[in-house]
Amino acid sequence: MSATAEHSRTAAAPPGGGALPLPMTSMEQHAALPKLSHDDRVRFQVAAGVNGFLSQTLLPLLQRAAAERVEPRIEAELKRPAKDRHEYRAFLEQDLTWRLWSRMRRANMESVQQAARLAVLPQLPDLVQTSRELIERAGNLQLASGLKAPGYLKRLHSHLMPGGYITELGDDDVAAGAAYELGVYAVLGGKSGPASDRAGRATVAWLAEHRPGWKPKRILDLGCGIGANTTAIARAFPEAEIVAVDAGAPMLRQGAARAAALGVDNIRFVQGNAERPPLGDDEQFDLITSLMVLHETSRPGTRKIFQACARHLAPGGLTFHLEQPPYRDKPLLEQCLRDWDGRYNNEAFWSAMHDSDLAAQLRASGFDDAEVYETEANAAQIGATKKTQEDYGRGGAWYVVVGEKPRLQEVRQ
Ligand SMILES: C[S@@+](CC[C@H](N)C(=O)[O-])C[C@H]1O[C@@H](n2cnc3c(N)ncnc32)[C@H](O)[C@@H]1O
Repeated sequence: MSATAEHSRTAAAPPGGGALPLPMTSMEQHAALPKLSHDDRVRFQVAAGVNGFLSQTLLPLLQRAAAERVEPRIEAELKRPAKDRHEYRAFLEQDLTWRLWSRMRRANMESVQQAARLAVLPQLPDLVQTSRELIERAGNLQLASGLKAPGYLKRLHSHLMPGGYITELGDDDVAAGAAYELGVYAVLGGKSGPASDRAGRATVAWLAEHRPGWKPKRILDLGCGIGANTTAIARAFPEAEIVAVDAGAPMLRQGAARAAALGVDNIRFVQGNAERPPLGDDEQFDLITSLMVLHETSRPGTRKIFQACARHLAPGGLTFHLEQPPYRDKPLLEQCLRDWDGRYNNEAFWSAMHDSDLAAQLRASGFDDAEVYETEANAAQIGATKKTQEDYGRGGAWYVVVGEKPRLQEVRQ
């Protein structure tokens, strides 16, 4: 059975539990993917299973505990409901079910990183050699050895990734990228899509629905990482020329090697800062995306990324930024659950970004004459994954901010 077909199956749900994660062997195989021993696979599958258990089984108990114990305690002590998530959290964090959920989630993130390092480091020389050969043949990588990466990427190692995205362990290193590719499977509870491309497939589905038949000729993906989601876009638009920018050389090497291994030949991986992408002043793109990037970027960084989009988006073009939804208007418990990553998963900009108004920021960054709106992209719609229970960050639905520039004739009218 093909990886795609296997991924569209619904995993059996055992009595009293949520759906089991799909096996790791359901990931699309390619020459740049680290080889996994039985022990490696078990580590990732257990982590994916714990992830599923936390979101499908323990989370409903936590929601019950909040309604039956936490909120009555707030009312009893404050004589009113909590005024914001900070006040609510002070009570929530005293509850045993929260502590269990939160500590298991943290331990699970640590175990994913550990499993990835244990799998990748022993075979790193082989992975480096394979990626060198694939990249040399494809000629799809452009590195900038003197790049001054943004300070936040140097200092902050998002979601507990040892060394973050940019640390290089040696010449032509791919460790961070190879580890990231394996980790995505477990972090998304085995529902990352056959080629770890769930967000990319959701993007393609959204575009097909909102601009049916549209074929962007030039596409820019900012903060592409290993390009797993870029690859889904590239496959949907095989005639487009795609430039994928990231600051992390190990991510880009893994991305370029894996695209070549998968036979995707229309992406050029370019090292650069997405705040000032390494492009000619006049270079224009029909579609500019950032998928799950802005929450790892400072507020001034986000503004500069949006300004770069305004500079490089062609008339009639569309810019698409996919994230988790903002906290505004969400119930306080949900805000606390969503905010977990900002407090316990080394996501330094997470809370500030989800408290901000990305649509207003986009408008103010050179899109004042554009149509700017918020929307949703949903992987469940495309059958890539079946969303059974909201798990606040691991589910298959995303919040998206879109800016659509008017066409030239519309500007002249
Ligand atoms: C969570 S990963 C998402 C990667 C990819 N978009 C995906 O969908 O899998 C965030 C990526 O953004 C990159 N990134 C964050 N800020 C950046 C910046 N200012 N310039 C270039 N890359 C950046 C990181 O290096 C990392 O690879």
